[in-house]
Amino acid sequence: MAERVIAITGGASGIGKETAFLLADEGVKVVIADFNDTLAKEVAEKINAKGGKAVTFKLDVSKKEEVEALVNFTVEQYGTITGIFNNAGIGLVKPFLEMDPASFEKVIEVDQLSVYYGMYYAARKMVELGVTNGVIINTASIYGFMSAVGSSNYNAAKAAVVALSRSGALELAPHNIRVVGVAPGFINTPILEMDEESKNYLGSLHMRKKLIEPEKVASVVRFLFSEDADAVNGSTIPVDDGFLCYK
Ligand SMILES: NC(=O)c1ccc[n+]([C@@H]2O[C@H](COP(=O)([O-])OP(=O)(O)OC[C@H]3O[C@@H](n4cnc5c(N)ncnc54)[C@H](O)[C@@H]3O)[C@@H](O)[C@H]2O)c1
Repeated sequence: MAERVIAITGGASGIGKETAFLLADEGVKVVIADFNDTLAKEVAEKINAKGGKAVTFKLDVSKKEEVEALVNFTVEQYGTITGIFNNAGIGLVKPFLEMDPASFEKVIEVDQLSVYYGMYYAARKMVELGVTNGVIINTASIYGFMSAVGSSNYNAAKAAVVALSRSGALELAPHNIRVVGVAPGFINTPILEMDEESKNYLGSLHMRKKLIEPEKVASVVRFLFSEDADAVNGSTIPVDDGFLCYK
């Protein structure tokens, strides 16, 4: 199989971390890119201790210069870049009448603009390097397809990620770069800052009445990055235990 080098934003925790482990197990060289460099280093150390290849890069994904620097760093480290997982994200819940511009803009910057930056800089670099097996995966959400109270900022950002995945796939197809979104349901990661009772409630919203573990999203992302998913392009794939089918 051709060499694969993939940068993973939000790779220090949750979905990004589990994806890094699975990709590294398959021989993919990874860059663990995150705000939280301490946790990122722990992830990289675990991968390297098992004989995989991982390095870290500290960045704020809402800063375009830092995302461009991530792409350049990846190429400096490994000689190429064949993929990026635009996955870092935050939530900031507020009722609409209290959704002040700063709170709205913050989530648009971290969850939406970051995805555009990752797609833009990674795709340009892949084309420049003549990469022929490029894949870009973007983390959207079930809330890119539906509304949730207090989440107008997040709903808008994640709907844009769904749209960007379509647009990117269309325009990058001539370069044989695939772009795919994933739309997780409620995943048992640190982003769900809440008590057990609230977590149980969110879990109960899925068809099988429990939160989804991040490994389950990671295994879908691993597949989407692989040649086995060669015909999947432009779509955003729900990983939601049926949530969108009946809510
Ligand atoms: N957990 C869920 O229920 C759920 C559901 C749907 C979508 N998602 C999405 O999945 C993605 C991953 O979230 P997770 O659940 O693994 O959460 P997580 O909190 O475990 O991981 C998110 C990671 O992103 C990093 N990060 C946050 N802001 C950043 C920034 N500005 N720059 C660089 N790194 C930053 C954090 O440090 C963290 O390591 C997010 O985009 C989130 O919106 C999560």
